[in-house]
Amino acid sequence: MDDEIRVSIASDADIVIARQQGRALAEKLGFSATDQTIIATAISEVARNIIKFAKHGEIIVEVIAKSSIRGIRVTARDQGPGIADIQLALQDGYTTGNGLGMGLPGCKRLMDELEIKSAKGKGTTVTMKKWA
Ligand SMILES: Nc1ncnc2c1ncn2[C@@H]1O[C@H](COP(=O)(O)OP(=O)(O)OP(=O)(O)O)[C@@H](O)[C@H]1O
Ligand SMILES: [Mg+2]
Repeated sequence: MDDEIRVSIASDADIVIARQQGRALAEKLGFSATDQTIIATAISEVARNIIKFAKHGEIIVEVIAKSSIRGIRVTARDQGPGIADIQLALQDGYTTGNGLGMGLPGCKRLMDELEIKSAKGKGTTVTMKKWA
């Protein structure tokens, strides 16, 4: 298996593929079963947001390193409507899509780092890292 996976996201089936492949990469890196589940869950949430808010986009999962520590970086990007207020989008319970508004704040808690780059009309890129 490669140290980078890219999955084009346009359907629910693609969410499952991204989740499975991301989990497999985390397992290969030696992440615990719990961390594998955390990474897979975070991938699902951002992929689901792509489908829900932008219709299509891409998930990239890569192996990264910081001195001797290895980790995984998940990038979810789309060219959809963008997020006007990123701080608001990260608050528990904020949703514009009749959801629970728990996806992004949940990812922030589960992963070690989470960054959102977005603006209204400019698409959205969510980058998340988990260190081994
Ligand atoms: N890729 C995206 N493009 C545009 N807006 C987004 C995107 N991802 C999230 N958002 C905005 O951020 C809000 C919060 O996202 P979050 O995933 O936390 O909640 P949700 O998807 O609405 O509900 P849940 O994930 O709990 O089902 C969304 O309601 C939406 O307004
Ligand atoms: Mg969501």
